[in-house]
Amino acid sequence: MTETIKLMKAHTSVRRFKEQEIPQADLDEILTAGQMASSWKNFQSYSVILVRSQEKKDALYELVPQEAIRQSAAFLLFVGDLNRAEKGASLHTDSFQPQGVEGLLITSVDAALAGQNTLLTAESLGYGGVIIGLVRYKSEEVAALFNLPDYTYPVFGIALGVPNQQHDVKPRLPLNQVVFEEEYQEQPVAAILDYDKVQADYAGARATTSWSQRLAEQFGQVEPSSTRKNLEQKKLL
Ligand SMILES: Cc1cc2nc3c(=O)[nH]c(=O)nc-3n(C[C@H](O)[C@H](O)[C@H](O)COP(=O)(O)O)c2cc1C
Repeated sequence: MTETIKLMKAHTSVRRFKEQEIPQADLDEILTAGQMASSWKNFQSYSVILVRSQEKKDALYELVPQEAIRQSAAFLLFVGDLNRAEKGASLHTDSFQPQGVEGLLITSVDAALAGQNTLLTAESLGYGGVIIGLVRYKSEEVAALFNLPDYTYPVFGIALGVPNQQHDVKPRLPLNQVVFEEEYQEQPVAAILDYDKVQADYAGARATTSWSQRLAEQFGQVEPSSTRKNLEQKKLL
């Protein structure tokens, strides 16, 4: 087992932080290592907004009331970004057509890979953090708060800081229900019920809803409209 594997297997999201800053040198390491993630055609179709002022964190918290945001030493907003692409493409063509599923997948996958690299680097330096996807539920307002231009949209944020809480590592689905040999194997509902139990045992008294109930809450309704509206406004849909 390498140090890297140990670090990756010890990952837990951290949502409560001490009132301690992250020194600039550490932030530089975190951000530059994060940037080394692979990206589609090396387009690097994302940007990161580093938020350190309490005022801005509080303003974001008003929109997205997640305690990790206001307690974080640094909040990183990962933005799907084809604004640079538009400028680059305009050197060679008058036609720029980023609207559609491919553009969204390219930008959100690039952002996600960079984000995961970023979080792991922070963890390797002893910091903790949590990805905040809920920024998308207030996509238009968040875009306005951070002055996002055309062809950009918030994908997720990462709240980072010195951990003030510790959880056990959250059990994952059994590997053979996620990794299949040679072809896809649809899972029986019994497998879901088994994992509901694993999750309930892990959460103990903290459990309010089961894993499958959370799936129902998420996917049993039409997607929250703010993301789609913002993507249309930013000319990505
Ligand atoms: C795309 C994405 C969005 C997430 N959004 C949130 C969020 O808005 N708030 C939150 O508390 N956790 C959020 N999380 C953290 C997950 O809840 C967490 O990773 C998951 O429960 C597994 O727990 P662990 O990271 O501690 O292993 C998000 C994670 C991902 C990958």
